[in-house]
Amino acid sequence: MTIIDFRKMKTEKRKISMVTAYDYWTAQIVSQSNIDCLLVGDSAAMVMHGFPSTLQATTEMMVFHTKAVARGAPNKFIVADMPFLTFRKGLQPAMICVEKLMGAGAHAVKLEGVYGHEDVIKHIVESGVPVMGHLGLTPQSIFKFGGFKVQGKNDQAAKDILNQAKALQELGCFSVVLECVPGDLAEKITGSSNIPTIGIGAGIHVDGQVLVLQDLLGSNSEFKPKFLRRFAETNEIIKSAVNNFDREVKDLKFPSLEESYL
Ligand code: KIV
Repeated sequence: MTIIDFRKMKTEKRKISMVTAYDYWTAQIVSQSNIDCLLVGDSAAMVMHGFPSTLQATTEMMVFHTKAVARGAPNKFIVADMPFLTFRKGLQPAMICVEKLMGAGAHAVKLEGVYGHEDVIKHIVESGVPVMGHLGLTPQSIFKFGGFKVQGKNDQAAKDILNQAKALQELGCFSVVLECVPGDLAEKITGSSNIPTIGIGAGIHVDGQVLVLQDLLGSNSEFKPKFLRRFAETNEIIKSAVNNFDREVKDLKFPSLEESYL
């Protein structure tokens, strides 16, 4: 997969699939799947480190996870998130972050929003680094939104997101994530832009879908947003395997003679 394929898949109306990956272990498994591309999302701060939001992600954290994913999935196109405020402090700090993420093995960077950092996006693109945009419920702005809430619900808000999508395209982004927006807005953006839209909670009329791997694997039984479908119940599977191990250790059933060195 390259950024050329993103555009080609949109033109040919073939859906793009993307999942998050944060570590070598899962990247290696996903590298053997048909998934088109991987996102080292700043959701790593929540999923892997237990922080309450993505605001706690740092460049060092993203570099650490990107390196592990690149080692585990050398055959996949890897997008790495630019963490909170790294693209809002001016061109030089933004480019230092981009340099570190690309050096860690990313093939593209993703950043949230557009207004106020158009110059940064343009500069990254013109430096030869593919940029994926991210609009709608941009988690780095949850305090501005008052929580994890669907965005673009009224006419004005929808128009604003549509304009931002146009701006991202003009700035040279190769694709855009649309997170938690009404399906008709996502459809309108998808229909009016040349770059692929990747939805999460944005309905079916987008060019691709992305989910957090641990969410689609059902690793957190408490997390049940409307948009999420669990394709497995790994929380139960893991708990049950570990409990089986615990029981067999305590019942002196593990290890057996066959599992011991004589
Ligand atoms: O960080 C992340 O996991 C993301 C996806 C939800 C799109 O940005």
